[in-house]
Amino acid sequence: MSTLPTRSLGRLEVSAVGFGAMVLSPGVYGEVDDERGLAALRHAFDHGAAFVDTSDGYGVDGHNERLVGRALRGRRDEVAVATKFGFNLPDGVEPHPFPVGFAFGELAVNCDPRHVRGYAEASLRNLGTDVIDLYYPHFPDPQVPIEDTAGAVGDLVSDGLVRYFGLSNVTAGQLRRAHAVHPVQAVQTEWSMWRPVDPELLAAARELGVGLVTWSPLGAGFLTGTVDRIEDGDFRKNNPRFDDANLAANRDSYAAVREIAEDVGVSPGQLALAWLLHRGPDVVPIPGSRTPAHIEENLAAARVELSADVLARVDGALAGVAASGGTLLG
Ligand SMILES: NC(=O)c1ccc[n+]([C@@H]2O[C@H](COP(=O)([O-])OP(=O)(O)OC[C@H]3O[C@@H](n4cnc5c(N)ncnc54)[C@H](OP(=O)(O)O)[C@@H]3O)[C@@H](O)[C@H]2O)c1
Repeated sequence: MSTLPTRSLGRLEVSAVGFGAMVLSPGVYGEVDDERGLAALRHAFDHGAAFVDTSDGYGVDGHNERLVGRALRGRRDEVAVATKFGFNLPDGVEPHPFPVGFAFGELAVNCDPRHVRGYAEASLRNLGTDVIDLYYPHFPDPQVPIEDTAGAVGDLVSDGLVRYFGLSNVTAGQLRRAHAVHPVQAVQTEWSMWRPVDPELLAAARELGVGLVTWSPLGAGFLTGTVDRIEDGDFRKNNPRFDDANLAANRDSYAAVREIAEDVGVSPGQLALAWLLHRGPDVVPIPGSRTPAHIEENLAAARVELSADVLARVDGALAGVAASGGTLLG
């Protein structure tokens, strides 16, 4: 067992680098089965990932949460568990369309407060635990005032089912409105070297003392410099940034960043994670991986120190590029 430096997401203490479990359900990024998924989670926990991210919507019927629950057996106290709701709709729950930029064009969500307790009870069962450390609506529901969803999570906190409230994929305005009802500890947003953060969201989070959990911090693998093409059956086939032409253009655009990693003596993925960690002490990336060596490499980024000169070089290289292909949100 090793430990990593810690960071605070509002009042929740977590390891500086967490572990995103989404890739451990079939149909995400490449082949995986439960044996490999469990081994990956255990490897991450053994190497200091004290923060795991899942969702009721990853995999079929809570698959991802159940896998995380199996890996947590006997070691629940070592790891802060974050999960999300409103993205796996049981029979009888009306789907509310949430528009997205690629893949299905829209997702189905429902964050009506009448359903939130049922979601939490299902996630607790899947995870095999009696409390969720950080609980987010996966996407804000366009048909439900975010204040109502916040109130429902506040009730779960009062009743001891949830420790802290988080928000995922929200705007600054939605963060402010929800926070006024129940204090938010973390916002989860896509932020990486190829996906700039929404500056208004960042400013609002900092003003309110809300931490930032960055999803796809490795650009869904792109920023590791190891993705040459996407195989059939890999969800990234839906992502225009990974189509053959855009992927080739993006690899060229980010060559300068990979060169900096080489000069510094870290992998491109470690530079991507360390760069995020150097954006501020309130930033916590949650890279995902099925591969033990990758997991160790990613967690080791928590200890990578980048000098002001290196950071300036990276920012200079990034200022000159814009990734080709759209993003899921905005
Ligand atoms: N809130 C939201 O809407 C939202 C959306 C997307 C994701 N998320 C969260 O964010 C987490 C991470 O995002 P993500 O999985 O999309 O993307 P990511 O962490 O940026 O990238 C994961 C991909 O990178 C590869 N990889 C990881 N480490 C590597 C390394 N050191 N060298 C080479 N390849 C490496 C993995 O392949 P291998 O398995 O082969 O290592 C996998 O294909 C998810 O698990 C999920 O919890 C949240």
